[in-house]
Amino acid sequence: MSITSAARGFTARLGLALPLIQAPMAGFQSGALASAVAGAGALGSLPGAAMSPQALREAVSTLRNDRSAHGGVPVNLNFFCHAPPVADPVREAAWRAALKPYYDELGVDVSAIAGGPGRLPFGDEAADAIEALRPEVVSFHFGLPPAALLERVRRSGAQVWSTATTVAEASWLEAQGVDAIIAQGVEAGGHRGMFLLGGNAPDVTTQLGTLALLPQVVAAVRVPVIAAGGIADAAGMRAALQLGASAVQIGTAFLLCPEATTSAVHRAALQSASARHTALTNLFSGRPARGIVNRLMRELGPMSELPPAFPSAVNAIAPLRAAAEKRGSGDFSPLWAGQNVSGCRPVPAAQLVGELASGL
Ligand SMILES: Cc1cc2nc3c(=O)[nH]c(=O)nc-3n(C[C@H](O)[C@H](O)[C@H](O)COP(=O)(O)O)c2cc1C
Repeated sequence: MSITSAARGFTARLGLALPLIQAPMAGFQSGALASAVAGAGALGSLPGAAMSPQALREAVSTLRNDRSAHGGVPVNLNFFCHAPPVADPVREAAWRAALKPYYDELGVDVSAIAGGPGRLPFGDEAADAIEALRPEVVSFHFGLPPAALLERVRRSGAQVWSTATTVAEASWLEAQGVDAIIAQGVEAGGHRGMFLLGGNAPDVTTQLGTLALLPQVVAAVRVPVIAAGGIADAAGMRAALQLGASAVQIGTAFLLCPEATTSAVHRAALQSASARHTALTNLFSGRPARGIVNRLMRELGPMSELPPAFPSAVNAIAPLRAAAEKRGSGDFSPLWAGQNVSGCRPVPAAQLVGELASGL
């Protein structure tokens, strides 16, 4: 099968050679992965949730200069747009009490644990960066930002994309005027983009697999749909395009590439038999995300009412993660991975892109 007309139109509008998007992966990549992917004809993405506006400026400039010999190269800047958490000292104290046996075991000084709001949602500073950088695509996770900020993004000329994990979320996003919808199946690694449910420990039984979600979203909306979740090889890409996707977004398969900043314990876990068992957990951040099942998930979760709202839960976990990783253990690390790790190989990202797109 060759490329579909939906995919051809989508790539032509963006000036992309391939209907393939490297998923933005906050905390697991910097500009190097996006540059390598862009050089191979796919869309490179930068995770604004984990990069300062200054870091984004530098990465976009490198990516564009690297590729300048080939003319303009599109780039995707990605942001979280969660509601900032309201401080809840009672809940925070309960969370730290639940973690106390681990602090004792690893010798963590509880008084040194950072407080604060953690990762900030998309805001004015990021909008300033977008106006200066004029990326071709701005994608959001956890819904969309407030109207005034969204309008600034639209006026910059960027296409606006966001993630849907249900047909209802896809229809809501279309009604807000997004240019494309990322249909994220439950197989996907990292955070679920779910946003219409909210609340602590939201009902993850509402989440559909890619094979069920994708065709239903394609039937429900008129904008292009990007398939995400569990796609790890050329056959998976072709299947998603056949089901009506205009492009495919892949994260997990890139985690072992040398250009990713995946930690040593995470790389080891991805290459071990334990990578076959992933689950959705809210223990590491306060929101459901898929990762390789480890000790913390087995003992306190994987889903729990205990963690404070996203992203505050990170603060109390961070010193445990650091102490364990120092000992070579991923017991307290968010080992994000999707259900299909068969595409993870330690090969350059450009080679992986070529293999994923072979036969299109
Ligand atoms: C390590 C990791 C980090 C992720 N971080 C983000 C992120 O910062 N923003 C985002 O929109 N999606 C993020 N995702 C989700 C991806 O966009 C995408 O939905 C997912 O990777 C697709 O499924 P796959 O992992 O099976 O390829 C992340 C995924 C992974 C594996």
